[in-house]
Amino acid sequence: MFLPSDGSIAIRYDALLDRISDHDAREIKQAACKKGWCFFRVNHYTELPKIVHCFSKSQSKDLCEKSISELLVKSKGEAKRHSLSAVFGRGRFPFHTDGAHLKKPPRFILLHARIADETIRPTIFKPFYFDRLSTDLVEQMQSMIWTVSDGFHYFYSPVLNVIEREKSYFIRLDPVCMKPPMGKEGKMILKNLSIFLRSTPSYSVVWQDNSYLLLHNWQAVHARGSATRETRMARVLHRYSIF
Ligand SMILES: [Fe+2]
Repeated sequence: MFLPSDGSIAIRYDALLDRISDHDAREIKQAACKKGWCFFRVNHYTELPKIVHCFSKSQSKDLCEKSISELLVKSKGEAKRHSLSAVFGRGRFPFHTDGAHLKKPPRFILLHARIADETIRPTIFKPFYFDRLSTDLVEQMQSMIWTVSDGFHYFYSPVLNVIEREKSYFIRLDPVCMKPPMGKEGKMILKNLSIFLRSTPSYSVVWQDNSYLLLHNWQAVHARGSATRETRMARVLHRYSIF
């Protein structure tokens, strides 16, 4: 379900920086708010926690460092229960948002390739531009209630969540931790979401050393593509969630 197909558009860098400043981080965030992502490269080696701290000034550098997670390609047997790896193993991952099991998922995710190889599993994403969605789909995404579970607790949520206070919205979508409504309603929204995901362009990141992707996790879904050739080299990404 929602698996990415071939033929995504490889994106170019939005910014090539020697070093990164707080001002650069603000501009990168603004760009991600506008179009759903910002792909950039920092040429001069900078420790990851320092870069992450530029995006999260309210957190200490120590906390930033502790909040960085390492994303490894795992077999079903090696993976944690209720994770995408436990279901999809070393294959492609379906389109999803990160932290879908949280009441309020992170607004942005910052991804960084620790081990980069252009042939290894691209990150594929698709922004949800609301003016391109049919009124029916927006209505279904807002009104149809899914069951969300982390394996221990559960709650109910639509795919499209409106935050009145912030005058904004966020997408929650994860086919592993979310179950669609039962019966006709469920079939209809799954079908319409699949049509939308197949019919709109997706973009892919070809990872290189020192490259970073800031993705608007509230307004875009992302997926892991398949390996383009067999390799013994592991793909290792870092992820930092910005709330
Ligand atoms: Fe993800």
